[in-house]
Amino acid sequence: MATNSQQKNVVALVGAGGIGIAIARRVAQGKHLVVTSRTQEKADRIANDLVKDGFEATGVACDLGNREDILAVIEHCQQYGPITNVICAGGVSPSQAPIAEILRVDLYGSSVLLEEFGKVIAPGGSGVVVSSQSGHRLPALSLEENWALAMTPTEELLGLDFLSEEAIGTTLRAYQYAKRCNVLRVQAQACEWDKRGARVFSISPGIIMTPLAFDELNGPRGEGYRKMLDLMPAKRAGTVDEMGALVAFLMGPEATFITGTDILCDGGCTAAYWYGDLQYLQENWSKS
Ligand SMILES: NC(=O)c1ccc[n+]([C@@H]2O[C@H](COP(=O)([O-])OP(=O)(O)OC[C@H]3O[C@@H](n4cnc5c(N)ncnc54)[C@H](OP(=O)(O)O)[C@@H]3O)[C@@H](O)[C@H]2O)c1
Repeated sequence: MATNSQQKNVVALVGAGGIGIAIARRVAQGKHLVVTSRTQEKADRIANDLVKDGFEATGVACDLGNREDILAVIEHCQQYGPITNVICAGGVSPSQAPIAEILRVDLYGSSVLLEEFGKVIAPGGSGVVVSSQSGHRLPALSLEENWALAMTPTEELLGLDFLSEEAIGTTLRAYQYAKRCNVLRVQAQACEWDKRGARVFSISPGIIMTPLAFDELNGPRGEGYRKMLDLMPAKRAGTVDEMGALVAFLMGPEATFITGTDILCDGGCTAAYWYGDLQYLQENWSKS
């Protein structure tokens, strides 16, 4: 436990992959950075690499889909000082996991993280959930479904009828629902976080080059992904550094009017999906 004079503001990064680390590197200077991985060994390795780059960092094992693990991360963070920033950047993609695991980690886990960190976030603090452009491809849901995703108590979320494996059908659809849920959950939780004087938002990246995107580009939907890159307005994948810069702005002093919202940062891919050269993907959404 740090003494009062040793206390620092703390940044929690749950899911220290490509995007998460890039964000942390932009917002954790001078703070204590807690990084997580599913194994303690990997979390320690990532923390040690960051220490060599001048950050103060420690590692904790955390399965995002497990409330006890999230509470343990919070307890670890609080040894060092008040938690001022939270980055939820853990998740599994449609090519990496079955439906149930995508819903458990990306949908339920992110919702629990928002709930639990929302109880302890420091005044003036902020949090971000890394959602995805994929959530923007799900057609509009009914008001009732929106409400259910935003407001259902976390322990009841996975019991919603429209989230059953039969209703969802494919891993891609599971991912889209999870990412739509992230955005709605952030909107609802902004009202809770505000009670502590804190802000929360999500970002919805397009294709960003990380191991997760690499798996998608080389997985069963790889050919479709490569065609998408050719036809979208930016004509390229994004970089993790661009995501870091965006969240540094959102967490910084110039963005204090921003909370409860999602920033789509996808090189125009969603625009082309609904209204431009990528409209063909709508006809066969389960393969896109
Ligand atoms: N890259 C893209 O094109 C893209 C686009 C849109 C959205 N996203 C979203 O961005 C987020 C980060 O992905 P990335 O692109 O940075 O990929 P990445 O480098 O492969 O990182 C994925 C991260 O998720 C963590 N993770 C996986 N399962 C977990 C679990 N059960 N509990 C806790 N953490 C878990 C991994 O931790 P371990 O160390 O344990 O493996 C890793 O840190 C994901 O939510 C993804 O859906 C990515």
